[in-house]
Amino acid sequence: MTRIAVLASGRGSNLGAILDACGRAGLPARVVLVVSDRENAGALARARHAGVEAVFLDPKAYGDRAAYDAALLATVEGHRPDLVCLAGFMRVLSPAFVAAWHGRLMNVHPALLPAFPGLHAQRQALEYGVRVAGATVHFVDDGVDTGPIILQASVRVESDDTEESLSARILVEEHCLYPEAIRLFAEGRLAIDGRRVLVREKT
Ligand code: GRF
Repeated sequence: MTRIAVLASGRGSNLGAILDACGRAGLPARVVLVVSDRENAGALARARHAGVEAVFLDPKAYGDRAAYDAALLATVEGHRPDLVCLAGFMRVLSPAFVAAWHGRLMNVHPALLPAFPGLHAQRQALEYGVRVAGATVHFVDDGVDTGPIILQASVRVESDDTEESLSARILVEEHCLYPEAIRLFAEGRLAIDGRRVLVREKT
C-alpha cells in the first residue's frame, strides 16, 4: 500500500480526485496526510471530511523558506509517506525538500509542459493563441514545472474559450491523470532516466 502525502493551497479538487481513486478497488494507495499553507484551504476541509489527517502549517510562523520547509519536511516525514503529491501547492519548495524526495515528489500543472510553466498557465495558453492545451503530471526537480514528465493529456482550445472554460476542461484531465500517475508509481512501474520517465509494462 503506497502511502501518500498531499500538499495543497487551494480548493483541493485534485486531492478529491486522488481520494476518490484511492477509495476504489485496484489502486494500492492511501492518502495519509494533507498539509496546506493556507488555513482556509478547501483541501484541508476535504481531508478532514475523508478522515485524513489535515495540517495547516502557517508560513508566518517561520522566519524564512528554509525554516518553513524544514518544518514541512518534518511533518511529512512523520507520516512516513512513500510519495508526496503537490496539488495546487502555491509555494516553490526548497532544494533540500526536493532533494529529500527526489523521484518520489509529483506535481500537476494545467498546461502541456514545457509550454506555459508558472502561474496562470491557462491564461498564458489563451493569450499565446495555441489550439491545443492540456495537463501534465511530472516529477519535481529544482526548477518551476521543469521536472521529468510522467503523463500528459491534451484538450482543444475553442475559439470562444475563456480562462474559466479552458481551465474547467483541463481540470477534467488533471483529475484523470493524477490518479493514473499515482497508480503507475504505486505499481512500481515508473523509472526516471535523465529527463525521461520510463513506464514499464504491467507484469
Ligand atoms: C490545478 O489547476 C493544478 O493544475 C494547479 O493548481 C490547481 C489546483 O486546483 N497546480 P485544485 O486545488 O486541485 O482544485
